[in-house]
Amino acid sequence: MPAYTLVTFGCQMNQHDSDRIGEVLRGIGYTEVAEPAQADLVLLNTCSIREKAEQKLRSEVGRIGLLKRARPSLLIGVAGCMAQQEGERLAKRMPQIDFMLGPDNIGELPSILAELELGAPPRIRTVFDLDAPQFLSAQAEPGRVGATAFVTIMKGCDERCTYCVVPYTRGPERYRTAREILAEIRRLVDAGVREVTLLGQTVNSYRDPAGSLPVAPGAGESHFKHTLRAVALADESEFPALLRAICAEVPELARLRYTSPHPRHLTWSLILAHRDLPALARHVHLPVQSGSDRLLKRMLRRYTVDEYVERVDALRSAVPGVTLSTDVIVGFPGETREDFAATLALAERVKFTGFFGFTYSERPNTPALKLEDDVPEAEKSARLEEIFELTDRHRREHLESLIGTTEIVLVERRGKNGDYMGRSERNEIVHFACTGDAVGQLVPVRIREAYNNSLRGDVEPGFVLAPNPERRTASPAAPARRALPVLAGP
Ligand code: 5AD
Ligand code: SF4
Repeated sequence: MPAYTLVTFGCQMNQHDSDRIGEVLRGIGYTEVAEPAQADLVLLNTCSIREKAEQKLRSEVGRIGLLKRARPSLLIGVAGCMAQQEGERLAKRMPQIDFMLGPDNIGELPSILAELELGAPPRIRTVFDLDAPQFLSAQAEPGRVGATAFVTIMKGCDERCTYCVVPYTRGPERYRTAREILAEIRRLVDAGVREVTLLGQTVNSYRDPAGSLPVAPGAGESHFKHTLRAVALADESEFPALLRAICAEVPELARLRYTSPHPRHLTWSLILAHRDLPALARHVHLPVQSGSDRLLKRMLRRYTVDEYVERVDALRSAVPGVTLSTDVIVGFPGETREDFAATLALAERVKFTGFFGFTYSERPNTPALKLEDDVPEAEKSARLEEIFELTDRHRREHLESLIGTTEIVLVERRGKNGDYMGRSERNEIVHFACTGDAVGQLVPVRIREAYNNSLRGDVEPGFVLAPNPERRTASPAAPARRALPVLAGP
């Protein structure tokens, strides 16, 4: 049986694509192995959101190329955003690569492999499926279904944030029908999944292409002081209606999350959905990018700081205790000390419990290339350090405030030391010890200790684990996936 190994760089969307690639390969008889040395096919699923993507790819291809030199039948494939964006050029520069596969071409993998087997020259398939968008559904294979799963609801991005390469690597927005999304979630939940994260580049711009969803409560309303009614109407989507449909039609789903929303689609109707749907996690990752209106304009983010803060406040009043995490870019062209101070002030105001900060780097084809990358690298790094210091403190204070509370933990896995690890409703990582099989269960844990990034606690006395009907964790036979972390989001 041929064997493959898959190395994933980048965001959840890429992780999700890797899962689908794995399913396609297993569907044609491949087995997964952990080490390239044992593989007949090595696939690198690449990311190009920030700098050094090409260097990383080159060094991986170089390393695997050595194996190929000793064993010429070894196939090397490159998938993901780098392949999409620069397939031709990279294939020329790295002749060890046998094929390039864009994110929309995963389904073509079997035919590409068949052609290569017949001796075809290197293949490059990087065509967006604009006319008939495809969304590969999760297969819910026994032994590979965990307690949590991702479900793609849209792909691509129609925004043009001036720093961002995504619109060029993932193409324009295309949506999956609500019927298909509901069917996939039903299938996953029947197979043992307890929590679903809806995925999309601007996940909350969702519209059902089949037009099957009823109008959600609050749709088209705007009670925001800082947003014009006409703009609020234009920013309305069917995402709140989709969330309601999921909770109504799959009531056994314990938790529902989504990533990444664009702040302009955090509409009144979405705030009402958060208020009304208990399964919707009390945590939102809401990328802000900057706390300076001048910079937000240069980034083409299409909201002001006042609009962002007003929506966060409205969400907090509707859902007491909701936490927020965010992405920030420091050192965007033209960012002055004052602009950066405004970002610090915003962080102080909102008190994010999760923070992903990046120094600006120029990306190919992006409009910001026309602006001079004028903040020195050393200054960018210093600003990043400074904002990390502040947001680390916010996170620690938040985690410490949870000592003595009871959190309902969805258990994801058992660690090496035998302890369980799961996440609270608000996304805090919680460790605890427990006898019995707790994976996939909701366990009340009283928090005893707070660390830098996680919590530790004890199962509430008197709580009894329900017997686990079937093993929900990935079987021990499934090799550990290599994922190189970078977080995603608009
Ligand atoms: N430079 C630095 N950070 C970037 N991001 C996206 N593009 C760039 C870039 N050119 C960050 C944004 C986004 C996250 C996924 O990556 O903060 O939300
Ligand atoms: Fe789209 Fe997000 Fe990139 Fe903006 S940052 S262009 S919303 S993917």
